[in-house]
Amino acid sequence: MQEIRYELTKTPKKKPAPGDSLPFGTIFTDHMFVMDYTEGTGWHDPRIVPYAPLQLDPAAMVLHYAQESFEGMKAYRTPDGSIQLFRPEKNAARFQSTHERMCMPVVPEQDFVEAIKALVKVEKDWVPTLPGESLYIRPFCIATEAHLGVKPSETYQFIIICCPVAAYYKTGLNPVKIYVEDKYVRATPGGTGYIKCGGNYAASLISQETAEKLGYSQTLWLDGVERKYVEEVGSMNCFFKIDGTVYTAPTVGTVLPGITRMSCIELLKKWGYTVSVDRLPIADVMKAGKAGKLEEVFGTGTAAVISPVGELRYEGEVARINGGKTGALTQKLYDTLTGIQWGKLPDDMGWTTKV
Ligand code: COI
Repeated sequence: MQEIRYELTKTPKKKPAPGDSLPFGTIFTDHMFVMDYTEGTGWHDPRIVPYAPLQLDPAAMVLHYAQESFEGMKAYRTPDGSIQLFRPEKNAARFQSTHERMCMPVVPEQDFVEAIKALVKVEKDWVPTLPGESLYIRPFCIATEAHLGVKPSETYQFIIICCPVAAYYKTGLNPVKIYVEDKYVRATPGGTGYIKCGGNYAASLISQETAEKLGYSQTLWLDGVERKYVEEVGSMNCFFKIDGTVYTAPTVGTVLPGITRMSCIELLKKWGYTVSVDRLPIADVMKAGKAGKLEEVFGTGTAAVISPVGELRYEGEVARINGGKTGALTQKLYDTLTGIQWGKLPDDMGWTTKV
């Protein structure tokens, strides 16, 4: 990558004070990273500039055909005041796999990580200091060519923005209630379910609205072919502990390969749990619920961290999990993962990188 050009703001915003509310994704820092791509030239002009609206041609291809990608990651303040990232190279690799599927030019892994570190260094005073809070980082890329023919764009912008955040769900670490979608589908084999593109999320909103109307926070998606097997929740991967075994859906093209998901599987295996990365019928989940064998359910994600699920609703039937309380394994995963991320526990997995 060329040398990053810095143009810092002369009018920094007032930063939230410790204890101020930080609703997810609503407060943005002073700067953003931007880099352009032009066919024939490649990536060029990396810069950190004041956070501001973008100038886009109304015919920019992203606005019409949704050629775009995004990632989600966080910077954490450690007890000694330093700042660290969690497995940023995994986000870089997933960003590349999204770009390959969306016919977009890949950002080299080293440039992706360097750009994140450079922006977080500039925004270091925005990284919150209170437990459970962090600086959410949103890298994304958009097709900018003004062209209404359907084809890959010849120009792009890779942009990174940041926002200080607390818990993703309003309920904090209290269990969320999940609605199992039985009408719409999120992903089918050969589609885009395994990548992070905005279209996956736009198409899920209708289900989220239904869930919310019924008093549920999110949707659990079933597979798109048989509508029989559990796949993932709106913004999280999902785990089920049934009779001692921990199940999670395989990432076979329709499920997002979450970095928190991957880390939980590694921790669970290290702790000696049987982890079944296999298709799990929703009927078996509900049956286990009725038999009192559905011990724990939790979601995993960068934004959501580890989110206990206290209730599932499928075709009008309700399964309550662990009396609606956070289970012991969910709590242990939360404590271990966040302990490593916030530098409160030794990182014996080698997962963190200092900024
Ligand atoms: C993340 O967990 O970082 C995500 O990208 C999920 C998002 C839709 C909030």
